[in-house]
Amino acid sequence: MDVGVGIVGYGLMAKAHTFGYRNASAFGSLAAKPKVVAMSGRNPVALAAAAALYGVPDTTSDWRTLLDRDDVDVIDICTPPGTHAEIAIAAAAAGKAVICEKPLAASFADALAATRAVEDSGVANAVGFNYRRLPALALLQRLIADGRIGRVLTWHATWYTDEFADPEIPFDWRFDLAMGASTFADLGSHLIDLALTQVGPVDAVSAQTQTTIAERSGQAVTVPESCSALLRFASGASGVIDLARNAVGRPCDFVVDVSGTEGSLRFDYARLNELWFSHIDDDPELYGPRRIRAEHTTHPYSANWWPIGQGVGYGSSFVNQVVAWFAEWPPKTWDPDFAQGTRVQAICDAMERSSLSDHWEQVPTFDLNPANKL
Ligand SMILES: NC(=O)c1ccc[n+]([C@@H]2O[C@H](COP(=O)([O-])OP(=O)(O)OC[C@H]3O[C@@H](n4cnc5c(N)ncnc54)[C@H](O)[C@@H]3O)[C@@H](O)[C@H]2O)c1
Repeated sequence: MDVGVGIVGYGLMAKAHTFGYRNASAFGSLAAKPKVVAMSGRNPVALAAAAALYGVPDTTSDWRTLLDRDDVDVIDICTPPGTHAEIAIAAAAAGKAVICEKPLAASFADALAATRAVEDSGVANAVGFNYRRLPALALLQRLIADGRIGRVLTWHATWYTDEFADPEIPFDWRFDLAMGASTFADLGSHLIDLALTQVGPVDAVSAQTQTTIAERSGQAVTVPESCSALLRFASGASGVIDLARNAVGRPCDFVVDVSGTEGSLRFDYARLNELWFSHIDDDPELYGPRRIRAEHTTHPYSANWWPIGQGVGYGSSFVNQVVAWFAEWPPKTWDPDFAQGTRVQAICDAMERSSLSDHWEQVPTFDLNPANKL
């Protein structure tokens, strides 16, 4: 059975998502095969070129027309964060399942509105936190859940990129807070999703930001390039997130370090098929972290992939999320859903407030359909 997907946007994420849809059936057992039937965009020439490149058979200049099509069952939102809530709310009203790239919205209020819309309509909904689908990060989460490092004491993550380092990069949506969302939300949302799934809820945060290039192409930049935050988890664990988009020569340097009462774990995106693990009972003669290759058939997302030692990459995370979402059809619930995306956004909201108030800020709580609670 084919399930029709309409993609909104034709940029980098539309390319990653079409890659996922095209390849998923080779790497998992699907109850329904997603087929991208159309893609929307405002520039017809660029849209047609992207559609030819990604193998999408039809295009439209208005995303709203995707909602009227009977052959579209799923709306997949691959546009800037400031557009997500409006499109998701309209898709839910049209009865379509909705997949939305991270962050769910540019603000907590918009994320909550989108979540309430999908809950009211009863449509399946998912957010593209694809990094949790990398085998090593999924294994890290499982090892913590299985108690392999005891009780988590500290959780640290850094993400350094150089996407904003060159002052000559012209202004685009990523430099506009209302459209691109804060750096806490844009880069940080992936890490906050990992923090929530690995350590649990966050109660309060203390954050700071730094803007060094205030103007591009004559337009004011409203998104700080770098920012950091302390996190107080409900469990008592403490956390740190450090983000920079102006780190020269650092393309996607992302590291997660977790220490517990009985062990520690480390993930480094530069070696994304590996995990470093130490346990308190390790033989003192072999003192130091051991390198796990997270590709054994017993590891998450590994059984259907390449033979051990060949490794996977960024694209695999998009394949894995499609496999997870289309393993049953029609879907009962998708994971991570909009409620989880809103929980991430609540933390971003507290970080943004804290960076302005210079105080610790509580993470806002909100009411959800009980079935959607994490
Ligand atoms: N999961 C990941 O690894 C990852 C990586 C990069 C980006 N993202 C997220 O994916 C989303 C899209 O990012 P991207 O890198 O594909 O961006 P992009 O700039 O490559 O593509 C954005 C698309 O949206 C369209 N667009 C731009 N402004 C618009 C507007 N105002 N209204 C409607 N359409 C508009 C563009 O024409 C383009 O088709 C963002 O939410 C971003 O945070 C996720």
